[in-house]
Amino acid sequence: MSESPLDPLTKRQDYGSLALEEGSLLPNPLEQLKVWITEADEAGVYEPNAMVLSTIDPDGNPSSRTVLLRGVDETGLYFYTDYGSRKGLALLAHSAVSLVFPWYLQHRQVKVFGHAMPTETEVSDAYFTSRPRDSQIGAWASDQSQPIDSRESLEAKVRQMEAKFENSDTVPRPEKWGGFLVEPERIEFWAGRTSRLHDRITFTKASDGWDVQRLQP
Ligand SMILES: Cc1cc2nc3c(=O)[nH]c(=O)nc-3n(C[C@H](O)[C@H](O)[C@H](O)COP(=O)(O)O)c2cc1C
Repeated sequence: MSESPLDPLTKRQDYGSLALEEGSLLPNPLEQLKVWITEADEAGVYEPNAMVLSTIDPDGNPSSRTVLLRGVDETGLYFYTDYGSRKGLALLAHSAVSLVFPWYLQHRQVKVFGHAMPTETEVSDAYFTSRPRDSQIGAWASDQSQPIDSRESLEAKVRQMEAKFENSDTVPRPEKWGGFLVEPERIEFWAGRTSRLHDRITFTKASDGWDVQRLQP
């Protein structure tokens, strides 16, 4: 294997020394997550609400991909997708998920472990309505994760759907498309420190709130 000081695989970055103390985090990790997303946005992170979602396929194999976090409330985290996609089918078979927000620019990471369930139809409808019309048409046109013979065939499907809805002011939500709510059981905040002695604070759901623990780096 070739090694050069410019090789990104061998480069060693010195992470910041901004301490992460148990007491400096909000008692509710979902509120703290919102603070960190805002701070990532302010720091110039592109798509600060992007998270890597890992699921378990129906055959037991893991798979991961990026999705956008579109809402957080006291129950959990919301994202939207095609229920017939690989992740959709995986989640309908195995609800266990892990999520990672990788904010490398800030030497920060949040991991969420929990279970995902389809959102109420009203929640999916409300979010679908807020999307641009082209994205709504796209949801009808694309059977996400299914093979297609060419880009032209995909564009033909889009034109077909544009024609289908040309006389309606609004595009209804396709039943196959909607939200998932991830109810977290554990949320970990990670901050990079010098000499790889990073800070890790983990919140575990308890009957009366959240238990807080520091983990070794
Ligand atoms: C920054 C970014 C944001 C994305 N957001 C979403 C999203 O919110 N929902 C979604 O279905 N796919 C999203 N995707 C595409 C997914 O990563 C993935 O390619 C797609 O959902 C199909 O995944 P699957 O075959 O594992 O189901 C996003 C991709 C990127 C790079």
